[in-house]
Amino acid sequence: MIRRIAILGSTGSIGKKALRVIEVLNSSLVARGSSLEKEKTEYEIVALSAHSNVELLAEQARRYKPKFVAITNTDYTGSLRELVGDLDVEILAGPDGLTEIAQLDEVDIVLTAVVGAAGLPAVLAAAQKGKTLAIANKEPLVIADELLTATAKENDSTILPVDSEHSAIFQAMQSGSADEVSKIILTASGGPFRESSVEDIQNVTRQQALSHPVWDMGPKITVDSATMMNKALEVIEAHWLFDMPVEKIEVLIHPESIVHSLVEFVDGSVIAQLGAPDMCLPIQYALTYPARVVGIAKHLQLDELGKLTFERPNLETFRVLSLGFEVARTGGTAAVVFNAANEAAVQEFLAGRIKFVNIVELIEHCLNKHNVKRRVSLEELLEADAWARREVIECLKQKVL
Ligand SMILES: NC(=O)c1ccc[n+]([C@@H]2O[C@H](COP(=O)([O-])OP(=O)(O)OC[C@H]3O[C@@H](n4cnc5c(N)ncnc54)[C@H](OP(=O)(O)O)[C@@H]3O)[C@@H](O)[C@H]2O)c1
Repeated sequence: MIRRIAILGSTGSIGKKALRVIEVLNSSLVARGSSLEKEKTEYEIVALSAHSNVELLAEQARRYKPKFVAITNTDYTGSLRELVGDLDVEILAGPDGLTEIAQLDEVDIVLTAVVGAAGLPAVLAAAQKGKTLAIANKEPLVIADELLTATAKENDSTILPVDSEHSAIFQAMQSGSADEVSKIILTASGGPFRESSVEDIQNVTRQQALSHPVWDMGPKITVDSATMMNKALEVIEAHWLFDMPVEKIEVLIHPESIVHSLVEFVDGSVIAQLGAPDMCLPIQYALTYPARVVGIAKHLQLDELGKLTFERPNLETFRVLSLGFEVARTGGTAAVVFNAANEAAVQEFLAGRIKFVNIVELIEHCLNKHNVKRRVSLEELLEADAWARREVIECLKQKVL
C-alpha cells in the first residue's frame, strides 16, 4: 500500500521533521521485510511547499523527488525555477499554489505545517476534497472552527491532530466514548517564564522569549509558548476538534513535557499519553494511523525521569490563557480576531518594535473593540482577520499603548 503525502510548509520545523519521519518509515520498511500489511505501507512525497526558503525547498525537491513544489511568496519563483530547472517537478507559485497542492488527486494525506492563518484556504480546500488532514497548523482550525469541522464532516475528510497535546487526547479518547469523558486536561510546559511574575516579564527580550526550555520550534509558536497564547489556541482547538464544552477543558503546567495530555472519564479513570518531547512521534502517528509501527521516536526511560510534576498556571502572568477560554466560550469571529491580533503583534515583537507585554495588550484591545458575528462565511472570517491586523498597526501608529 502507498500513502501519498503533500507537506504544506516542508521547510519549517514540523515540515523538516515530517520528512525525516517519512524517510525513516520508508527505510525501515525495506529493512523489516515484514509480512504484516501495516508494515508494508510506503509513504510517497508528492508535493512540498515553502514561503521564501527556496534553497531548502530546492534541496528537498532534489532529495525527495516530489511531483509538485509550491512557493507561496512569488518574489522567489524565479530563483526556485533556476534551482530546480533540471528536475522533473512542476512549480506552483503564490498562495493559490498551496491550495492547488492541497487538492491534488495524487494526494491522500495533506500534512499542514505552515505557520499562522495563511494555511486556511488550503486546509479548507483539502477538507472539501475529502483528504485526510494531518493538522499541525492549528490557527486555521481555531479561526474557521465551525466551517472547517463541518466541511470535513460533509466531505468525509478525516482530521488527525499533529499537535502533541491533541494527538495525546485523540489517543486517550479511544479508551471510551465521547459521552463518557468528564474532562480533558491539556498539559503545558509553561515556557521560559513559567516561574515569572507580572513584574518579571515587563522587560523580557526577544532572545529570552525565544529560549524555550524544552521544545525546538519555529519563532512564532515559540513566542506563543512564552505568552501561553499557544495553550490558549490549543484550548479553542480542543473545543472544536473533540466537540468538547469549554467547561470540560482544563490546563495544567507540566514542565517535564512527558505527559502530552490526559482524558478523565466519568468513572474517575484518567488516561494519559506519554512520550519523549519530540514532535516526530505525533507526526508519525498521524501518518501511520491507525497503525503503530517502529519509527524514529526515542523510547522513554521512566526510571531515569524520576518524577513528573503538575501545577496550575499563573493566570496573572499568563493573562492570555484566561482570554483564550473566554474566546472559546464566545465563539463566532472572536477567535479569528484573537488569532490575527496575536499574529500581527508577535510579528511586531519579533521585529523589535513592541515589548513582550504589549502582545496581550494589543489582543485585548482588538477583542474589546470587535463586534462578534456568528455563523460566518469564509469571506467574513477573512474580513475580521484583516480588520484585527489593521487595528494592531493603527494602535501602534496612534501610540495607543
Ligand atoms: N514546531 C513545533 O514543534 C510545533 C508543534 C505543534 C504545532 N505546531 C504548529 O505547526 C505550524 C508550523 O510551525 P513551525 O514551528 O513548523 O513553523 P516554522 O518553523 O516557522 O515553519 C513555517 C512553515 O510555513 C511556511 N510559511 C511561512 N509563512 C507562510 C505563508 N505566509 N504562506 C505559506 N507558508 C508560509 C514557511 O516557509 P519558509 O521556510 O519558506 O519561510 C515554513 O515552511 C504552526 O501552526 C504551529 O503552531 C508546531
